[in-house]
Amino acid sequence: MISLNIEKTLGFISKESVAAYEAEVKAAQEALEKGTRPGNDFLGWLHLPSSITEEHLADLKATAQTLRENCEVVVVAGIGGSYLGARAVIEALSNSFSWLQEKKDAPVILYAGHNIGEDYLYELTEYLKGKKFGVINISKSGTTTETALAFRLLKKQCEDQRGKEVAKKVIVAITDAKKGAARVTADNEGYKSFIIPDNVGGRFSVLTPVGLLPIAVAGFDIDKLVAGAVAMEKKCGADTPFAENPAAIYAATRNELYKQGKKIEILVNFNPKLHYVSEWWKQLYGESEGKENKGIFPAAVDFSTDLHSMGQWIQEGERTIFETVISVANTNHKLEVPTDAENLDGLNFLAGKRVDEVNKMAELGTQLAHVDGGVPNLRIVIPALTEESIGALLYFFEIGCGISGYLLGVNPFNQPGVEAYKKNMFALLNKPGYEAESKAIRARL
Ligand code: PA5
Repeated sequence: MISLNIEKTLGFISKESVAAYEAEVKAAQEALEKGTRPGNDFLGWLHLPSSITEEHLADLKATAQTLRENCEVVVVAGIGGSYLGARAVIEALSNSFSWLQEKKDAPVILYAGHNIGEDYLYELTEYLKGKKFGVINISKSGTTTETALAFRLLKKQCEDQRGKEVAKKVIVAITDAKKGAARVTADNEGYKSFIIPDNVGGRFSVLTPVGLLPIAVAGFDIDKLVAGAVAMEKKCGADTPFAENPAAIYAATRNELYKQGKKIEILVNFNPKLHYVSEWWKQLYGESEGKENKGIFPAAVDFSTDLHSMGQWIQEGERTIFETVISVANTNHKLEVPTDAENLDGLNFLAGKRVDEVNKMAELGTQLAHVDGGVPNLRIVIPALTEESIGALLYFFEIGCGISGYLLGVNPFNQPGVEAYKKNMFALLNKPGYEAESKAIRARL
């Protein structure tokens, strides 16, 4: 289903040095299974795929159907782990131009609450005027400012435009079981709501309702997505021998590269639909590993687009990088390069070839060039952009991240560093309860 090839890292690190991680990886896997290391209260994602029940999926699909039947547009309000997973899957599986098509078979999915751009929010609310829209409000804490602010605007607009009764039907909350403002609002207003389990952190929550509901609303098969993740949960489980476990090999290889001075991992795709999978991956690895003054910096590029911008740096810049390429074996459509009698563009050497063949040669040529240029290259191959493959890929990265974080010696499941900006922002905005911080920060200005 998913394969990992590390052959093109072996000129930089040795096979033996990767194999030497076996015992440490086993210990990390055991710690994940038994919950014996820091972060053990956030391991709900580990066996999440195989514990999702038919009833839960049916509930999600029924709610998705209500939104699909009653909305032309659904706005998913959330940020970070409460946003990126849904967007990653929806963009990977969607027709790139479906939102421009007149006849749509699913509501247009838009996003809010992931920025505080006044123009963005103004333009969104303008676009929604007169439209039958609904909102999925996603926040585990229920108190995230970006999301709460967007939701305040959207809730009012939805009620004003559609009336309170319809609004109740087309606003869904995904939040904590008991605490937070989003829970209070959902209960007071009588919204349909789903729970984000306590033991699943935001960046590991794509297979909870946080990801599954928006994905189902967009018209994708969440049974298949979960089935792909279940298959990967098995393949990457603690029972699989180290050499056959792609997540174990991935975690070991990237840690060994890091030790050898490769401080930046660039996730590469050759398919623009994977852009948001990279955004999701950046959060997963960045927030999990970047702490205690260590951690691989996760970066991402979309090739061949970025070969014309970042390609120079990758080929010849400081040699502190390695690449992990997600290669999609098969496209979902076929398109051949036509013959042209005049051949003014000189492209007849490509005539009759599939566009994907050209892309694959760009991929291969890039890999060889970058390896020649001193960039170790890992390659993950997925069969196609389907629900199963994407579900498998997401879980592969999650378990790879859990193992990798423990190899690095950090707690991969907390994020103490994200509070610093919030504290300052609240102090600057005079949020009640921040009086002392307000005073202190103003003294610094
Ligand atoms: O991974 C995380 O924990 C974060 O990215 C959160 O998901 C993000 O800050 C949003 O938090 P919340 O869901 O509480 O609104």
